[in-house]
Amino acid sequence: SKQITVPEFRSAKSRGAKLAVVTAYDYTSARLCDEAGVDCILVGDSVGMVVQGHPTSLPVTLDEMIYHTKCVMRGARRALVVVDLPFMTYQVSPRQAVRSAGRLMKEAGAHAVKLEGGVRMRPAIRACVNAGIPVMGHIGLTPQSVHQMGGFKVQRDEEQLLADTTAVEEAGGFAVVVESVPADLGAKLTTAVTIPTIGIGAGANCDGQVLVFHDMLGLYPDFKPKFAKRYADLGAAVKTAVESYCREVRDGSFPAAEHTFR
Ligand code: KIV
Ligand code: NA
Repeated sequence: SKQITVPEFRSAKSRGAKLAVVTAYDYTSARLCDEAGVDCILVGDSVGMVVQGHPTSLPVTLDEMIYHTKCVMRGARRALVVVDLPFMTYQVSPRQAVRSAGRLMKEAGAHAVKLEGGVRMRPAIRACVNAGIPVMGHIGLTPQSVHQMGGFKVQRDEEQLLADTTAVEEAGGFAVVVESVPADLGAKLTTAVTIPTIGIGAGANCDGQVLVFHDMLGLYPDFKPKFAKRYADLGAAVKTAVESYCREVRDGSFPAAEHTFR
């Protein structure tokens, strides 16, 4: 089936179609998610935590995002691929934002970029959109500001959240991730804009949902956020499988005849 475009993704809201978004960072997982029918794959800077093992997303570099995006692009046939601009690759100036976003589009083949911040990022979003680069916003809990926020905390400042959400739309963003806000606020923000809200810990009334691949599959042992529903416990399945492999190597039952060339 054919590629989902940015305008199609944006207009899902007016059709009342809920959007399913999931993160992926490599070819194999992107291909699985694409074949499972997700609307959008997010190459998130959560790669810094769930793949690289850092406690935050702050150390992730633009070159690393380009590498992961190239891998994902080979596995995504239908899904829209949106890529995070990592920390300190867009906050300095709108010019820096356009240059960094441009590299993700030109070198890696991304369809769109995502950046964190609403009101404070209006000029950066506008500059990217003016350059022909579609932008997804991200408001509420913005993990690149974890030290300023004093931790990964639920965001409750209604006035600020409304201003940030509408700023993303006014600056030309085509969608906005809303992270870790109470459900009633998630609903209010969703009715305040015509672009789709993609919730993560923002309740059931958002226009779509996003989950981190490793969280939804039980693959990330360090922390399970309240909003991360586990659709499978692959972590346990992987452990059991590798334990069996170790046992069979040690007792000589692997490889068997059928795994052996004659
Ligand atoms: O990096 C990421 O995975 C994200 C999603 C959680 C929205 O930004
Ligand atoms: Na992110």
